[in-house]
Formats: sequence, C-alpha cells, structure tokens
Amino acid sequence: MRKMIIAGNWKMNKDIKETFDFLLPLKNNLIGQNLNVEVVVCPPFTSLFIASDILRETNIKIGAQNMFYEVEGAYTGEISPKMLKSVRCEYVILGHSERRRYFGETDEIVNKKVKKAIEFGLKPIVCVGETLEERESGETFKVLEKQIKGVLEGLTYEQMRNVIIAYEPVWAIGTGRNATPDQAQEAQRFIRELVAGLFNDGIAQNLTIQYGGSVTPENAYSLLSQPDVDGALVGGASLKVDAFLKIIKAGETASVEKKN
Ligand code: PGA
Repeated sequence: MRKMIIAGNWKMNKDIKETFDFLLPLKNNLIGQNLNVEVVVCPPFTSLFIASDILRETNIKIGAQNMFYEVEGAYTGEISPKMLKSVRCEYVILGHSERRRYFGETDEIVNKKVKKAIEFGLKPIVCVGETLEERESGETFKVLEKQIKGVLEGLTYEQMRNVIIAYEPVWAIGTGRNATPDQAQEAQRFIRELVAGLFNDGIAQNLTIQYGGSVTPENAYSLLSQPDVDGALVGGASLKVDAFLKIIKAGETASVEKKN
C-alpha cells in the first residue's frame, strides 16, 4: 500500500518569525495523532534549520524546495544534498515548474538532481506537468511521457523506491483553477502505467503520485479520493495553518477510506 503524502510548498514565503508562527500551532494540532498520511513542510532554505528544530520529535517531516547536484565546491549560491541532510531534511522538491520556467531547469538537470538526492538519502518529490497550451493542443500525455522518461532516466529499481512524483499541471499552479478530479486521475493513472512500463508493476503500484495546483480545503477531498491521487503538493493553501490542517484532514479521510 502506497503512502499518502501531504506536502506544503511555501515557495519564497515566511521569514524566521513567520516560520515559528506557522509551525508551533501546526505541531500543537498534530501532536499525539497517529496519522496515516505523511505530513511534510517545505520552507525556504533560511528556515530549514529552525523548522527542523521546532519539529524535532514530531512526525512532521521537513523538505527543501530545491538543491544542486554537486556535493560541495565553487557553486556560488547553491545548496547541496549534504547540507540538506545536516539540517535533517528528508524530502526535496525537484523540477518544480517555477524552477523550470525562471531558472532554466531541464529534465536532464532534474534527473542529475534526483540521482544525487537519493544517493544522500533524500526523497525527491519530482514535479511534472503540462502547460495550458500543451493541454489544449492535446499534447498532455506526450509531454508527461517525455518529462517522466527524462527525469527518471537511468534510475535503478532500488532508487525508484525513494521517488515521489508530483503531477502539477502548470495552468493550475497558483491560478485558483485546479484540475478536476477526473483530469488529475486520468493524468496520474497515465503516469503510473508509464512507470510500470519503464520499471515494473510493483514499483508503479508503490509509487506515491501527488497532485499539485490550486489545492484548497474545499477541493482536497475530491482530488485525494481518486484512486491514483496519493497526496497533494500544496502551495498557497499551505501558508495558513487552518487551511493546511483541513487539507491534511481530507487526506487522512481519503487515505483511511482507500485502505478499507
Ligand atoms: P498552488 O501551488 O497550490 O499555490 O497552486 C502548488 C505548487 O506550486 O506546488
């Protein structure tokens, strides 16, 4: 049975004080609860250290939003997997569409990062998704296939056990226009079948595939109850404790229902 993962991607939001103000109530709300869902928060680099300190001895996990594929050296401004491990990160978002769009990341670069992250014991949340133009011209599956093949190129079966995929249609990110549950399910089933073909069925069945793009407390349950939607990567709605908690709760309900 694959794990449902609800991850909050804070993007370039929250300084140290705001990190405290968010994580203390989150921690107090979730403390002592034995959840089926895995809860992950992905603060900016500057808040990772304090976030892992606040969340020490809880089940809430920490993720970074990016990393470089080298371990150390003359790469001004970059952060390595070794550094992320030293602040107790367990996850790292890779290949987010904003990284692809503003910072020129390609499938090839993302693939290098995925391999390096796994080598250091980090679980990559690897983002894929089509633009509106690609969807409207009927190219969604073609685009997803190219991205999935590119980012997972050369991974071993063993490495694949640590990978999480986030299906994030670019047109749904930050727009308030989420994919319908049917659209998410269709794309995510396609991704799972593709992974079954590239690796094997066991790996595909164990793969957590999150949906991301305008997830809110209102639409979370209908998305998360789809058979191939195993979690959410939440941007805007992960910045408010109440909204994020409601999404976690929706995930918990959907996860328990899927188990039974
Ligand atoms: P959003 O962002 O929830 O604000 O649409 C999702 C994401 O970019 O991961």
